[in-house]
Formats: sequence, C-alpha cells, structure tokens
Amino acid sequence: MEKNNWLQLAEGTGKNIIMGQAMNLLDGVLDYKELMMGYACAIKEINTKFEVLDTEFEVRYKRNPISSIETRLKSQTSILEKMARMGLPPTRENIENNLNDIAGIRVICSYIDDIYLLADALTRQDDIKLIKRKDYISNPKPNGYRSLHLIVSIPIFFAESVKEVRAEVQIRTIAMDFWASLEHQIKYKKNVEHADKVIARLKDCADEIAHVDETMQEIRMEMDKIQEKPTAEEVLYEKLKKIDINFM
Ligand code: GTP
Ligand code: MG
Repeated sequence: MEKNNWLQLAEGTGKNIIMGQAMNLLDGVLDYKELMMGYACAIKEINTKFEVLDTEFEVRYKRNPISSIETRLKSQTSILEKMARMGLPPTRENIENNLNDIAGIRVICSYIDDIYLLADALTRQDDIKLIKRKDYISNPKPNGYRSLHLIVSIPIFFAESVKEVRAEVQIRTIAMDFWASLEHQIKYKKNVEHADKVIARLKDCADEIAHVDETMQEIRMEMDKIQEKPTAEEVLYEKLKKIDINFM
C-alpha cells in the first residue's frame, strides 16, 4: 500500500471514532431532551389544572383564589449538582427515580384557606397521584419557612405512549412567598455580618407574616358570613356580570 493510502486509512479510522463519539454524545443529549420534555409537559398539565380551578371559582363565586403561578424546569447544572450530592451517577433512571423537583409549580394565593382548597381540589383529581405532602404551614421550619408542598405524579399522554411524571407543587400565600424570596437571597450570601441576628429578624418577620395571614383570613371569613339580601335588580345585575366574565 502506498504511503498516501495509509494516511487516508488512518484519517478515515480517526474520523469514524470521532463520528462514533459524536453520535453517542448526541444520543445522550437527545435522551436528556426527551426526559425534560416529559417534565415540561407535566408543568403545562398541572398549570392548566390550577388555571381551570381559578376560572371555576371566578365564574361561580366571583373571586380568584390564585394570585399568580410560577413554573420552572430544574436546570442541568442543578440536576447534576443534586445527583452528585446524593452520590448517584446522573443516569436517566437515577434522575427519574430520585429527583421529584425537576418540574416545579409554585402557586401563590391571597388566603391560607385557599392553599388547602386548591391542594385538595388537585389531589382529588383521578389522574393525580399524591406521593408526598409536607405541610410547613402547620409545621413551619425552624427558620420560619411556611408553605404547603405536594409531590405528585401525573400521566402524560404522548402520541404512542403514556408516561407517569413527577412534579413538586408549592402552594403559599403572597406574604409567605415574599418572605421565602428574601430568605433565599440571604441564604446564598457568604459575607453577611451578624448572620445570627439576620436569621433571628427573619424568623420574627415569618411569625409576624403568619399572624397577618391569619388575621386577613379571619376578616375575609367574617365578611363572607354577612348575608345581604339583594334586591331583584341586584340579582339580575350580578347574573349579567357573570355572563360578561372573559375566561380566555
Ligand atoms: P430539596 O431542598 O429540593 O432537596 O428538597 P427537600 O427534599 O428537602 O424538600 P423540601 O420540601 O424541604 O424543600 C423543597 C423546596 O422548598 C426547596 O427546594 C425550596 O424551593 C423550598 N424550601 C424549602 N425550605 C425552604 C427554606 O427554608 N427557605 C426557602 N426560601 N425555601 C425553602
Ligand atoms: Mg428542590
């Protein structure tokens, strides 16, 4: 064989190896994309379920239990970090079996009773399986953190398959959310002077917030109890207003 041909063969083999590695890498990336698609769809489904409940309440009772909904798909970096912390190789199987919070849905309400109302309405639905429920409202964390956490699983119907996907739902009041976002920022600051004092002040804020949430709830319940007898005209007007509600 001529020298030129040897070189060509060597180059060809090298290319094949690189092509093979690139293919494996690509397969891995595509597999990961497909895994993430399942979680993204779970977020869409659960988000819609909450929107439906909010719309139903608007039409029936003229009030919205949900103030806002935030969703997030856990980042690749956070997934890898969490798997490393767990001491597990980040395989698809390990990720699916051990991480419950890749799909995250946070529902923010005005009132505490709406948190439980929404949690019950969601978990009663036939397709939703409740895996874990953590009530940090009746049992706040020592730092003052309050929220209701649900780990649920939901079937996602694809064209040719059905996949059960897990998601973490956090339901909290506006005030609890305000507190958690400040606490989260402080947690990641390294050079906080008098950190213990800051922690103690935050804990005091959490307790004050809890008190305000409870009082607001009581006031609303008292207002709900007041039965005002509407005139026939008012009844008609209320019905007309319901017709005008725009759900889209
Ligand atoms: P990870 O922290 O995700 O590993 O979850 P865990 O298994 O300890 O569950 P937990 O229900 O305690 O926390 C889940 C999520 O709730 C966290 O990732 C945060 O988003 C939120 N969370 C829990 N505790 C706190 C807290 O003390 N402060 C704030 N700001 N958020 C919290
Ligand atoms: Mg988490």
